[in-house]
Amino acid sequence: MRKSATRLRLAGALAAALMLAGIASGTAAQAGERHGKEPTLADLAQRHGRYFGSATDNPELTDEPYKALLGSEFDQITPGNGMKWYATEPQQGVFDFSKGDEIVNLARANRQKVRGHTLVWHSQLPDWLTGREWTAPELRAVLKKHVQAEVRHYRGKVFAWDVVNEAFNEDGTYRESVFYKTLGPGYIADALRWAHQADPRVKLYLNDYNIEGIGPKSDAYHRLAKELKAKGVPLHGIGFQAHLALQYGYPTTVEDNLRRFSRLGLDTALTEVDVRMQLPATQEKLAQQAKWYRDLTEACLAVRRCVGVTVWDYTDKYSWIPAVFPGEGAALPWDEQLRPKPAYFALREALGGR
Ligand code: XIL
Repeated sequence: MRKSATRLRLAGALAAALMLAGIASGTAAQAGERHGKEPTLADLAQRHGRYFGSATDNPELTDEPYKALLGSEFDQITPGNGMKWYATEPQQGVFDFSKGDEIVNLARANRQKVRGHTLVWHSQLPDWLTGREWTAPELRAVLKKHVQAEVRHYRGKVFAWDVVNEAFNEDGTYRESVFYKTLGPGYIADALRWAHQADPRVKLYLNDYNIEGIGPKSDAYHRLAKELKAKGVPLHGIGFQAHLALQYGYPTTVEDNLRRFSRLGLDTALTEVDVRMQLPATQEKLAQQAKWYRDLTEACLAVRRCVGVTVWDYTDKYSWIPAVFPGEGAALPWDEQLRPKPAYFALREALGGR
């Protein structure tokens, strides 16, 4: 780690010297670098035509040091919760976009793009929706209204939407969500069409976990995506969450997998990256984690239509992991004190910053 820091300082000095010599060209991505600062992850990603993003959540935005790094290191933001159904339509037909708006406004102030997350998901639904039975025509109308109200509200403000999140089981069968059970698999195409009507320019994604490598679940997405494209349904990308865990091994087929989706004419993105471990963290585990962050980033860079990488928040201080996977954590590139971990330096190296 100390070696990387030294290398970083040397790189900074070299960059400054090149700039003094007038060698650096004046792209927007390099604007920050011209002030003699280290290029950020975003600067480095932009050199490859990619973004480098982070999720964030409303309660964290009172933490000024956190907010400063969020605003400077990344060029893309995803609201971790603020745009979910429970937050945006807490009562049927009563919309509240204040949480999502706060994040969109912050992103605009920092000139960051926003991924909308998420319109249709079995989890974090409002009680009014889960607490009763629906006929198919009723639920269809509820779904259409929700999708269109939210997409319309954020038209021109988000560049992409995770329209349907986590639609499949591990074995590639459809998840038996209320939407699937009531409406059948056609709810996915419907949601995509409704979203497209509400904002014809926004990129529409399906998003899931455990689909980073080739397997039954990613095969199901490949089949579905092919079918949707063949029918002319507006689908533009697949989001690979990439919530990895050291104890389960690295998905070695990520690059091939991303590429087979590119070949269908789709964008791909790593949308919720974190690499958790069983606590306590050790130097060995942190080094392993750093390698995985590097490998994921390199896989994205190797595939032309992989448009960017988003970490599911950037600091262990605000990671969702400890609350959901007891005994696990330390999943992000910055530690709880906002100090960069080996994973951060590995990301920089993967992006070509030395
Ligand atoms: C998580 C949030 O980060 C937590 O704050 C919340 O309590 C639960 O949801 N897959 C997704 C994300 O698509 O929306 C989830 O976010 C993490 C797993």
